[in-house]
Amino acid sequence: MSKLNMNSEIKKIEKRLAQAIKSEDKVLEEAAFHLFSSGGKRVRPAVAILSSQFGKEMNEDVYRVAVALELIHMATLVHDDVIDKSDKRRGRLTIAKKWNQTTAILTGNFLLALGLEHISDIEDNRVHTIISNSIIDVCMGELFQFQDQFNGHQSITNYLRRINRKTALLIQLSTEVGAIASGADIKTVHNLKMIGHYIGMSFQIVDDILDFTSTEKQLGKPVGSDLMNGHITLPVLLEMKKNSAFKQQIQQLSPNSSPETFKYCIDTVRSSDVIQQCLGISNKYLDKALDLIDELENDSAKALFKKLIKKVGKRNV
Ligand code: IPE
Ligand code: IPE
Ligand code: MG
Ligand code: MG
Repeated sequence: MSKLNMNSEIKKIEKRLAQAIKSEDKVLEEAAFHLFSSGGKRVRPAVAILSSQFGKEMNEDVYRVAVALELIHMATLVHDDVIDKSDKRRGRLTIAKKWNQTTAILTGNFLLALGLEHISDIEDNRVHTIISNSIIDVCMGELFQFQDQFNGHQSITNYLRRINRKTALLIQLSTEVGAIASGADIKTVHNLKMIGHYIGMSFQIVDDILDFTSTEKQLGKPVGSDLMNGHITLPVLLEMKKNSAFKQQIQQLSPNSSPETFKYCIDTVRSSDVIQQCLGISNKYLDKALDLIDELENDSAKALFKKLIKKVGKRNV
């Protein structure tokens, strides 16, 4: 396969996305366009396209799945913001805030359906099975997160299981389906699936770190949103292990806790060495992905993949 230019590949995907969200219904189209045009790193299409480089050929199916994955991802973001009652996403008002909650729910459904429609012509049934199973798991991940809100008695295993479902699976599916669509052999597909899994786990851990360490400007939403929504993430769980006063605070936290209490908890995590510890755990996952990449063939694609992984690990948005 000829050498890949990732920037131009992502531009192609964005062109197709803009085309895909056109609708006779202008409200749905505008709401979908509002999210689409606010940016986003397009990580899922990027890893799908990179993974396709380890198959036989780059073909139309690869682009179809890459576009579908971003549409499905966008759907989960829109619904995630409804669940979290978030006002901001990627520095802009959320759809529920700019329009209303009903419009947001419908836009999420619209994007999800568009994603599925986009791959309906793909003949390989594995693609459909993997994608629908993953959507079920993402729903479960979000549901478990909802059920565990303000639950200060959860384990790290519990957390890891949840982030696997709500985030890692969609990235794992991107590498797996990207490889399948380009006709990669079974061993390579499996290898890429595991690479996606490790990248995905690291990705959510970094997301959870940034929720504490970043700035509102960079995050595009308020700092500390996770804790204010009662989402107990890895930095909090690790701090609880070594700081009993903090542990008590977290176990007493509720939506009615005072802004000062939230601020104390957020500041404690921000200035703690658990942040470094979380980065270490994220990097362990990335190292596993890098080791598996070494086993693949196609040197130029391997180099691009490694570059992407380093970027994802060091990102600040
Ligand atoms: C945000 O995903 C939600 C998570 C799964 C962490 P991204 O960080 O990929 O969001 P965008 O698309 O770049 O905004
Ligand atoms: C979102 O994870 C995962 C899904 C959208 C399924 P987060 O809740 O951490 O995403 P952000 O931080 O709101 O982007
Ligand atoms: Mg959220
Ligand atoms: Mg987050």
